[in-house]
Amino acid sequence: MDINKYEPKYRVKQENLLRLTDLTAEEIFEFLYAAKAMKKKFRVRESSNVLHGKTVALLFGNASTRTRVSFEMGIRQLGGDYLFLPKNETQLARGESIRDTAVMLGRYGLSAVVLRAFTDEQLHEFASYSEIPVINGISDQAHPLQILSDLFTIWEVKGRLDNLKLAYIGDGNNIANSLIMGCSKVNMDVAIASPHGYSPAQQVVERGMQYGDVLITDDIAEAVMGADIVYTDVFISMNDEDDEEKKRKLSRYRVTPEMLALAKEDAVFMHCMPARRGEEVAAEVIDGKQSIVYDQAENRLHLNKAALTMLIK
Ligand code: CP
Ligand code: NVA
Repeated sequence: MDINKYEPKYRVKQENLLRLTDLTAEEIFEFLYAAKAMKKKFRVRESSNVLHGKTVALLFGNASTRTRVSFEMGIRQLGGDYLFLPKNETQLARGESIRDTAVMLGRYGLSAVVLRAFTDEQLHEFASYSEIPVINGISDQAHPLQILSDLFTIWEVKGRLDNLKLAYIGDGNNIANSLIMGCSKVNMDVAIASPHGYSPAQQVVERGMQYGDVLITDDIAEAVMGADIVYTDVFISMNDEDDEEKKRKLSRYRVTPEMLALAKEDAVFMHCMPARRGEEVAAEVIDGKQSIVYDQAENRLHLNKAALTMLIK
Protein backbone atom coordinates (compact mmCIF):
# COMPACT_ATOMS: atom_id res chain seq x y z
CA MET A 1 0.00 0.00 0.00
CA ASP A 2 1.19 3.51 -0.88
CA ILE A 3 1.40 5.77 2.18
CA ASN A 4 0.69 8.80 0.00
CA LYS A 5 -2.71 7.39 -0.96
CA TYR A 6 -3.61 6.51 2.63
CA GLU A 7 -6.17 8.68 4.44
CA PRO A 8 -5.18 8.97 8.10
CA LYS A 9 -7.73 8.83 10.90
CA TYR A 10 -5.19 9.70 13.62
CA ARG A 11 -6.32 6.70 15.66
CA VAL A 12 -5.02 3.22 16.35
CA LYS A 13 -6.70 0.32 18.09
CA GLN A 14 -3.48 -0.72 19.84
CA GLU A 15 -3.35 -0.26 23.61
CA ASN A 16 0.43 -0.68 23.80
CA LEU A 17 3.42 -0.22 21.54
CA LEU A 18 5.73 -3.15 22.23
CA ARG A 19 6.97 -4.28 18.81
CA LEU A 20 6.23 -3.59 15.17
CA THR A 21 5.08 -7.18 14.63
CA ASP A 22 1.83 -6.14 16.37
CA LEU A 23 1.07 -3.28 13.94
CA THR A 24 -0.61 -3.36 10.54
CA ALA A 25 0.77 -1.25 7.68
CA GLU A 26 -2.19 1.09 8.18
CA GLU A 27 -1.33 1.54 11.87
CA ILE A 28 2.28 2.31 10.95
CA PHE A 29 0.97 4.94 8.53
CA GLU A 30 -1.22 6.42 11.29
CA PHE A 31 1.86 6.96 13.50
CA LEU A 32 3.77 8.49 10.58
CA TYR A 33 0.99 10.90 9.61
CA ALA A 34 0.60 11.92 13.27
CA ALA A 35 4.37 12.55 13.48
CA LYS A 36 4.15 14.69 10.35
CA ALA A 37 1.38 16.78 11.95
CA MET A 38 3.42 17.10 15.18
CA LYS A 39 6.48 18.26 13.26
CA LYS A 40 4.47 20.86 11.36
CA LYS A 41 3.14 22.30 14.64
CA PHE A 42 6.63 22.23 16.18
CA ARG A 43 8.04 24.20 13.25
CA VAL A 44 5.49 27.01 13.62
CA ARG A 45 5.74 26.79 17.45
CA GLU A 46 2.04 26.05 17.76
CA SER A 47 1.33 25.16 21.37
CA SER A 48 -0.74 22.19 22.43
CA ASN A 49 -2.32 21.02 25.65
CA VAL A 50 -3.37 17.61 24.50
CA LEU A 51 -1.55 15.93 27.42
CA HIS A 52 -2.76 18.45 29.99
CA GLY A 53 -3.37 16.67 33.29
CA LYS A 54 -1.54 13.53 32.10
CA THR A 55 1.66 12.15 33.57
CA VAL A 56 3.85 9.61 31.81
CA ALA A 57 6.35 7.44 33.70
CA LEU A 58 9.72 6.84 32.06
CA LEU A 59 11.03 3.66 33.69
CA PHE A 60 14.52 3.39 32.22
CA GLY A 61 17.03 0.63 32.84
CA ASN A 62 19.94 2.01 30.83
CA ALA A 63 21.55 5.16 29.50
CA SER A 64 19.69 7.28 26.98
CA THR A 65 20.07 10.65 25.29
CA ARG A 66 17.58 10.69 22.41
CA THR A 67 14.78 8.58 23.88
CA ARG A 68 14.84 10.33 27.25
CA VAL A 69 15.15 13.90 25.99
CA SER A 70 12.64 13.45 23.17
CA PHE A 71 10.07 12.05 25.62
CA GLU A 72 10.71 14.63 28.34
CA MET A 73 10.62 17.56 25.91
CA GLY A 74 7.78 16.09 23.87
CA ILE A 75 5.59 15.63 26.96
CA ARG A 76 6.29 19.22 28.09
CA GLN A 77 5.48 20.54 24.61
CA LEU A 78 2.11 18.77 24.80
CA GLY A 79 1.30 20.29 28.20
CA GLY A 80 1.81 17.08 30.15
CA ASP A 81 4.09 15.95 32.93
CA TYR A 82 6.52 13.07 33.33
CA LEU A 83 8.15 11.05 36.07
CA PHE A 84 11.67 9.85 35.31
CA LEU A 85 12.24 6.57 37.14
CA PRO A 86 15.71 5.05 36.86
CA LYS A 87 15.03 1.33 37.18
CA ASN A 88 17.89 0.84 39.64
CA GLU A 89 16.26 3.34 42.01
CA THR A 90 13.02 1.37 42.14
CA GLN A 91 12.35 -1.82 44.05
CA LEU A 92 12.76 -3.72 40.77
CA ALA A 93 16.49 -3.46 41.51
CA ARG A 94 15.87 -5.37 44.75
CA GLY A 95 13.88 -8.08 43.06
CA GLU A 96 10.30 -6.76 43.24
CA SER A 97 8.30 -8.54 40.56
CA ILE A 98 7.30 -7.14 37.20
CA ARG A 99 3.69 -8.01 38.02
CA ASP A 100 3.60 -6.04 41.29
CA THR A 101 5.36 -3.07 39.65
CA ALA A 102 2.99 -3.03 36.67
CA VAL A 103 -0.16 -3.29 38.80
CA MET A 104 1.01 -0.60 41.26
CA LEU A 105 2.07 1.88 38.59
CA GLY A 106 -1.46 1.71 37.24
CA ARG A 107 -2.89 2.91 40.61
CA TYR A 108 -1.28 6.35 40.92
CA GLY A 109 -2.96 8.28 38.14
CA LEU A 110 -0.26 7.77 35.50
CA SER A 111 -1.50 7.80 31.90
CA ALA A 112 1.24 5.65 30.30
CA VAL A 113 4.60 4.08 31.03
CA VAL A 114 7.66 3.91 28.78
CA LEU A 115 9.90 0.94 29.59
CA ARG A 116 13.52 0.94 28.50
CA ALA A 117 16.01 -1.92 28.65
CA PHE A 118 13.70 -4.66 29.77
CA THR A 119 13.81 -8.07 28.11
CA ASP A 120 10.99 -8.75 25.68
CA GLU A 121 9.61 -11.33 28.07
CA GLN A 122 9.49 -8.77 30.92
CA LEU A 123 7.95 -6.20 28.60
CA HIS A 124 5.12 -8.52 27.62
CA GLU A 125 4.59 -9.61 31.22
CA PHE A 126 4.46 -5.97 32.32
CA ALA A 127 1.91 -5.14 29.60
CA SER A 128 -0.25 -8.12 30.55
CA TYR A 129 -0.70 -6.71 34.09
CA SER A 130 -0.78 -3.01 33.23
CA GLU A 131 -3.98 -0.96 33.24
CA ILE A 132 -2.22 1.86 31.38
CA PRO A 133 -0.53 1.87 27.94
CA VAL A 134 2.99 0.41 27.88
CA ILE A 135 5.49 1.72 25.33
CA ASN A 136 8.76 -0.03 24.51
CA GLY A 137 11.60 2.51 24.67
CA ILE A 138 14.07 -0.25 23.59
CA SER A 139 14.33 -3.91 24.51
CA ASP A 140 16.89 -6.57 23.68
CA GLN A 141 14.85 -7.60 20.62
CA ALA A 142 13.14 -4.44 19.40
CA HIS A 143 13.22 -0.64 19.15
CA PRO A 144 9.81 0.16 17.64
CA LEU A 145 9.81 3.92 18.30
CA GLN A 146 13.18 4.27 16.60
CA ILE A 147 12.11 2.42 13.49
CA LEU A 148 8.74 4.20 13.23
CA SER A 149 10.66 7.46 13.46
CA ASP A 150 13.13 6.21 10.83
CA LEU A 151 10.29 5.30 8.46
CA PHE A 152 8.94 8.81 8.96
CA THR A 153 12.40 10.23 8.09
CA ILE A 154 12.62 8.04 4.98
CA TRP A 155 9.16 9.16 3.89
CA GLU A 156 10.20 12.82 4.31
CA VAL A 157 13.44 12.41 2.38
CA LYS A 158 12.36 10.01 -0.37
CA GLY A 159 8.71 11.06 -0.66
CA ARG A 160 7.50 7.46 -0.46
CA LEU A 161 8.15 4.16 1.29
CA ASP A 162 7.08 1.42 -1.08
CA ASN A 163 9.57 -0.10 -3.49
CA LEU A 164 12.57 1.44 -1.77
CA LYS A 165 15.46 -0.77 -0.71
CA LEU A 166 17.07 -0.47 2.72
CA ALA A 167 20.38 -2.22 3.38
CA TYR A 168 21.39 -2.73 7.02
CA ILE A 169 25.03 -3.64 7.62
CA GLY A 170 26.20 -5.04 10.94
CA ASP A 171 24.96 -6.80 14.04
CA GLY A 172 21.55 -8.51 13.75
CA ASN A 173 20.33 -6.75 16.90
CA ASN A 174 17.17 -4.98 18.13
CA ILE A 175 17.48 -2.33 15.38
CA ALA A 176 17.91 -4.95 12.64
CA ASN A 177 14.90 -6.92 13.94
CA SER A 178 12.64 -3.87 14.02
CA LEU A 179 13.85 -2.73 10.59
CA ILE A 180 12.88 -6.12 9.14
CA MET A 181 9.37 -5.86 10.57
CA GLY A 182 8.85 -2.16 9.83
CA CYS A 183 10.21 -2.18 6.28
CA SER A 184 8.55 -5.41 5.21
CA LYS A 185 5.15 -4.22 6.46
CA VAL A 186 5.30 -0.99 4.43
CA ASN A 187 6.48 -2.78 1.28
CA MET A 188 10.13 -1.73 1.40
CA ASP A 189 12.77 -4.29 0.45
CA VAL A 190 15.17 -4.94 3.29
CA ALA A 191 18.59 -6.58 3.01
CA ILE A 192 20.63 -7.39 6.10
CA ALA A 193 24.35 -8.13 5.81
CA SER A 194 25.84 -9.64 8.99
CA PRO A 195 28.70 -12.02 9.63
CA HIS A 196 27.89 -15.64 10.32
CA GLY A 197 26.53 -16.03 13.85
CA TYR A 198 25.24 -12.44 14.12
CA SER A 199 22.16 -12.59 11.88
CA PRO A 200 18.81 -11.23 13.09
CA ALA A 201 16.41 -13.48 15.03
CA GLN A 202 15.13 -16.32 12.83
CA GLN A 203 11.48 -15.89 13.88
CA VAL A 204 11.61 -12.19 12.96
CA VAL A 205 13.10 -13.01 9.56
CA GLU A 206 10.42 -15.63 8.90
CA ARG A 207 7.69 -13.23 9.95
CA GLY A 208 9.12 -10.41 7.83
CA MET A 209 9.27 -12.69 4.79
CA GLN A 210 5.48 -13.15 5.05
CA TYR A 211 5.07 -9.43 4.33
CA GLY A 212 7.87 -8.46 1.99
CA ASP A 213 11.22 -9.01 0.40
CA VAL A 214 13.75 -9.78 3.16
CA LEU A 215 17.30 -10.79 2.24
CA ILE A 216 19.69 -12.12 4.88
CA THR A 217 23.26 -12.44 3.69
CA ASP A 218 26.88 -12.16 4.81
CA ASP A 219 27.75 -10.49 1.49
CA ILE A 220 27.92 -6.71 1.96
CA ALA A 221 27.91 -5.91 -1.77
CA GLU A 222 24.83 -8.05 -2.36
CA ALA A 223 22.96 -6.15 0.36
CA VAL A 224 24.09 -2.64 -0.58
CA MET A 225 23.82 -2.90 -4.36
CA GLY A 226 20.95 -0.69 -5.55
CA ALA A 227 19.98 0.41 -2.01
CA ASP A 228 18.19 3.71 -1.40
CA ILE A 229 19.13 3.70 2.27
CA VAL A 230 22.24 2.28 3.98
CA TYR A 231 21.79 1.84 7.74
CA THR A 232 24.07 0.63 10.50
CA ASP A 233 24.25 0.40 14.29
CA VAL A 234 26.89 -0.19 16.94
CA PHE A 235 28.74 -3.52 17.05
CA ILE A 236 28.15 -3.89 20.80
CA SER A 237 24.70 -2.94 22.09
CA MET A 238 24.11 -1.48 25.54
CA ASN A 239 23.07 -4.72 27.15
CA ASP A 240 25.78 -6.82 25.48
CA GLU A 241 29.03 -7.84 27.11
CA ASP A 242 32.06 -6.20 25.52
CA ASP A 243 33.04 -8.99 23.13
CA GLU A 244 36.34 -8.78 21.20
CA GLU A 245 35.47 -11.79 19.03
CA LYS A 246 32.20 -10.15 17.96
CA LYS A 247 33.94 -6.86 17.19
CA ARG A 248 36.59 -8.69 15.16
CA LYS A 249 33.96 -10.52 13.10
CA LEU A 250 31.98 -7.33 12.55
CA SER A 251 35.01 -5.19 11.66
CA ARG A 252 34.56 -5.92 7.93
CA TYR A 253 30.95 -4.68 8.22
CA ARG A 254 31.92 -1.02 8.69
CA VAL A 255 30.11 1.43 6.41
CA THR A 256 32.83 3.13 4.38
CA PRO A 257 32.63 5.60 1.45
CA GLU A 258 33.55 2.71 -0.91
CA MET A 259 30.68 0.63 0.42
CA LEU A 260 28.21 3.52 0.21
CA ALA A 261 29.26 4.02 -3.42
CA LEU A 262 27.73 0.61 -4.23
CA ALA A 263 24.30 1.95 -3.31
CA LYS A 264 22.23 4.24 -5.55
CA GLU A 265 23.77 7.62 -6.27
CA ASP A 266 21.11 9.39 -4.23
CA ALA A 267 21.25 6.89 -1.35
CA VAL A 268 21.14 8.23 2.21
CA PHE A 269 23.02 6.99 5.25
CA MET A 270 21.17 6.35 8.53
CA HIS A 271 22.24 5.38 12.06
CA CYS A 272 20.00 5.26 15.13
CA MET A 273 22.89 6.67 17.25
CA PRO A 274 24.87 6.73 19.48
CA ALA A 275 27.55 6.08 16.83
CA ARG A 276 31.20 5.11 17.07
CA ARG A 277 33.11 6.77 14.26
CA GLY A 278 35.82 4.46 12.93
CA GLU A 279 34.10 1.38 14.30
CA GLU A 280 30.76 0.58 12.55
CA VAL A 281 30.88 3.70 10.34
CA ALA A 282 33.65 5.82 8.84
CA ALA A 283 33.60 9.47 9.90
CA GLU A 284 33.48 10.55 6.21
CA VAL A 285 30.16 8.71 5.87
CA ILE A 286 28.34 9.77 9.02
CA ASP A 287 29.59 13.35 8.67
CA GLY A 288 29.26 13.34 4.87
CA LYS A 289 26.59 14.82 2.62
CA GLN A 290 24.57 11.61 2.28
CA SER A 291 24.10 11.32 6.05
CA ILE A 292 20.68 12.18 7.51
CA VAL A 293 21.41 11.07 11.07
CA TYR A 294 20.55 14.36 12.76
CA ASP A 295 17.15 14.58 11.03
CA GLN A 296 16.63 11.01 12.11
CA ALA A 297 17.44 11.92 15.73
CA GLU A 298 15.19 15.00 15.67
CA ASN A 299 12.29 12.97 14.34
CA ARG A 300 12.31 10.86 17.50
CA LEU A 301 10.69 13.89 19.15
CA HIS A 302 7.84 14.16 16.66
CA LEU A 303 7.21 10.42 16.55
CA ASN A 304 7.19 10.04 20.34
CA LYS A 305 4.66 12.87 20.62
CA ALA A 306 2.54 11.15 17.98
CA ALA A 307 2.76 7.82 19.81
CA LEU A 308 1.73 9.34 23.14
CA THR A 309 -1.27 11.17 21.74
CA MET A 310 -2.49 8.08 19.90
CA LEU A 311 -1.99 5.61 22.75
CA ILE A 312 -3.26 7.73 25.65
CA LYS A 313 -6.99 7.53 25.08
N1 CP B 1 18.58 5.89 19.40
C1 CP B 1 18.38 5.88 20.72
O1 CP B 1 17.50 5.19 21.25
O2 CP B 1 19.18 6.73 21.39
P1 CP B 1 19.37 6.79 22.98
O3 CP B 1 20.03 5.50 23.38
O4 CP B 1 20.26 7.98 23.19
O5 CP B 1 18.03 6.97 23.62
N1 NVA C 1 21.44 -1.61 19.35
C1 NVA C 1 21.68 -0.45 20.16
C2 NVA C 1 20.68 0.62 19.83
C3 NVA C 1 20.84 1.90 20.58
C4 NVA C 1 19.79 2.91 20.27
C5 NVA C 1 21.57 -0.85 21.63
O1 NVA C 1 20.72 -1.68 21.99
O2 NVA C 1 22.38 -0.36 22.42
